[in-house]
Amino acid sequence: MKLKIIKSILKSLFILMILSCSTHKKESPLQTRERVSFNENWLFQKTEDSAATQFDYDDSQWRPVNVPHDYAIEGPFKPEYNPRTGGLPIHGQAVYRKKFFVDKEKQGSIISLEFEGVMSNATIYINGKKVYHRPYGYIGYEIDITPYVKFGEENLVAVHMEQDVLSARWYTGAGIYRKVWLETKNPIHIAHWGTHISTPEISSEKATVSVETKINNKNASNKGDYFLHTQIFDENGKEVASNKSEIEWANKKNSTNKHNLTIVNPNLWDINAAYLYKSVSTIVKDNQEIDRYETSFGVRSIEFSKKGFFINGRQEKIQGVCLHHDLGPLGAAVNLRATERQLQIMKDMGVNAIRTAHNPPSKEQLELCDRMGILVQVEAFDMWAMPKTENDYSNHWDEWHETDLRDMIKRDRNHPSVIMWSIGNEVREQKEKDGHLVAERLVEICKEEDPNRPTTAGFNILTTALNNGLGNAIDLVGANYKPTQYAQVIKNYPNMIVYGSETASTVSSRGVYHLPLEKYDKHPSLQVNSYDFNSPPWAYPPDIEFMAQDAMPNNIGEFIWTGIDYLGEPTPYGGKDNLTHGNWDVDWPSRSSYFGAVDLAGFPKDRFYLYQSQWTNKPMVHLLPHWNWEDSGITEIPVFCYTNAEEVELFVNGKSMGKKTKGVDKTRIPVDFYAWNRQEKFYDSPYRLSWNVPYKPGEIEVVAYIDDKEVARKSIKTAQVPAQISLEADRNDIHADGEDLSFITVKIEDENGVFHPLADNLVEFKVSGPASIVAVGNGNAASTEPFQANYRKAFNGMCLLVVKSKKGEEGEVTIEATSEGLTPQRITLQTRYYCL
Ligand code: GAL
Repeated sequence: MKLKIIKSILKSLFILMILSCSTHKKESPLQTRERVSFNENWLFQKTEDSAATQFDYDDSQWRPVNVPHDYAIEGPFKPEYNPRTGGLPIHGQAVYRKKFFVDKEKQGSIISLEFEGVMSNATIYINGKKVYHRPYGYIGYEIDITPYVKFGEENLVAVHMEQDVLSARWYTGAGIYRKVWLETKNPIHIAHWGTHISTPEISSEKATVSVETKINNKNASNKGDYFLHTQIFDENGKEVASNKSEIEWANKKNSTNKHNLTIVNPNLWDINAAYLYKSVSTIVKDNQEIDRYETSFGVRSIEFSKKGFFINGRQEKIQGVCLHHDLGPLGAAVNLRATERQLQIMKDMGVNAIRTAHNPPSKEQLELCDRMGILVQVEAFDMWAMPKTENDYSNHWDEWHETDLRDMIKRDRNHPSVIMWSIGNEVREQKEKDGHLVAERLVEICKEEDPNRPTTAGFNILTTALNNGLGNAIDLVGANYKPTQYAQVIKNYPNMIVYGSETASTVSSRGVYHLPLEKYDKHPSLQVNSYDFNSPPWAYPPDIEFMAQDAMPNNIGEFIWTGIDYLGEPTPYGGKDNLTHGNWDVDWPSRSSYFGAVDLAGFPKDRFYLYQSQWTNKPMVHLLPHWNWEDSGITEIPVFCYTNAEEVELFVNGKSMGKKTKGVDKTRIPVDFYAWNRQEKFYDSPYRLSWNVPYKPGEIEVVAYIDDKEVARKSIKTAQVPAQISLEADRNDIHADGEDLSFITVKIEDENGVFHPLADNLVEFKVSGPASIVAVGNGNAASTEPFQANYRKAFNGMCLLVVKSKKGEEGEVTIEATSEGLTPQRITLQTRYYCL
């Protein structure tokens, strides 16, 4: 009882602390625009009842949820839900409802709601009245709800959404899966996405910053003197430039104002060296601030030419990855930390760019790329008017593509990380004689909204697309899976800049080694060999692209398919499109991709290290396969090593198998990557080292050398039977904001602490204290175990537990992992509330 009272006092103190945090925030500086999170206390129900959007509807039995929320990730997995979209229930109708009160004093202000993304076909109702509809799930929008709001009373917002099983080629998620904001502002205010910042001139002495600001007037008049003040602050909060002018009203409803400012000795934004400035735009009337709007931006120059890609005058090859928007076991509901973790893992692999395949990304992803110094190709569409699946966005193309494309660019054009706009991926109009007309129109829209960045598109039937004039319409020609054609394209079209918009598409499962090495095909295990030779007929191993890129130092670079596994598209199992490749074959329960260099849980596969060996300089060495072959009957094992060092020596049970030199001692990989799927033909890869080694349990070890000096080493030991669990949290101290996450890697080990590469023990979790389990996973693409559970089987020795802090509750979190026959393990985390 006493404990309960103490706990409740502590909780009250804590709430006071949060309040003081936010009050403190409000005091400085004077703000007239109020923007508040609108993410908590929604009610949710999957329903087809059209009355569910009405004010008086009985929602007493509905489920309380906070958004971002993805209802499909809850499962269950079922083959009829279409393995192509993850085998999860993304389809059907659902409604979210939320009551909210608007103060009487707010009368006269503009009240708006911003939805950053609803999947999909959202219709928004305020107090039972339909006020907005938007089909595309990947774009956000602001809705002025002032005319429908009851001031001084309770209001209801209801969001209805609807999606078909055949709406996409991958897992879309479902629900209000991005954030929602409620804004109150002066009728004269800076428009939504109303600033456009560019840096037309940059030198080390100064940068010219052009800030264009759109102002809306929802008043009947604009009488009086209105001034626009633009200030630029550096990262220390110091004002480095400012400009002020009287607002020019072209008409009574809106006004566009341009300020040119100069930053002396600018700090440049760069890859891995991000520097962000903040532009603060204020509207002042009679010395009274009536609106304030902040825009983060960077100062950097980019240039694409026949000589390559240049940032701040320096040539850089794009070492890019395509990423889908889902966050693995967490689904599509956006989460800042989960997104940051994905990007950190990618950076560790040597990635400097991402392509947001094949849709506008979350705001969080771009903000993180800005902060982490990662380049971005923002992609708008996977299809135009010609469908890829029966009920996809093509149905809305005519009515919506222009708005969606303009909004994407308006939303994202101030991010220094964004370096190009993609107007589409492998659109079927590539094959059409007049496909170029669509491309030309889309490019026109892009240039109107942002004349400063190049446009691109990804073509898989490259020569046809070029013959049809689509290449001429865009600035940068993206080639999907055509490393052998770059040189020919440049020869035939001397003015074109071509690069690898989608490359490799190698498939593999973490920790899976089939011997003898199999060709690309379906395997009864529903897994794919991790020796990384296997890829579908249109694709090829990473080495082929490395070779093409190395042969063309001026090529902009590549975006591999994909950095991380994603939900849906389980090629080679059940991997056909509905319309482009015929109906899908079901190899249930295969339900997610094998394309990633990293698995769905975020654990690196061997391929991660192959890219790291090519893309990073910090000495590294990697070794495969595992060394537990005693029950396999296999006597000779191909041992592979990936390194960025010069030489590597392999030791088997302490005995040297000799040194090999990278690029000289070659490894056999398929010579003709298309032929590899049909016949055995090999090529020597300069990017891998290998030995054939007789198997004897014990230890294999590689030592890497540069100039005869050891720079890295890695060993793999034969594990004895599984005996214990090891737990490792990526972060032991997390923010008590109800959103922050800790990702805990669970490994099964033998009694000596040696990782067991084949263990599949079922692990159960108990979390006590101010955090809860939000997801479990293990990277097995053919598992129907739920992602939301307190248990998970290990897959090849590993699984993942994700815990989330509880809002407003600080303290110690204990995590216990148990498994029958294994010594249990426990770790503790701390959750703390920080005033950010
Ligand atoms: C490409 C397509 C991607 C993905 C990939 C798999 O053709 O653009 O979305 O399907 O193939 O290899």
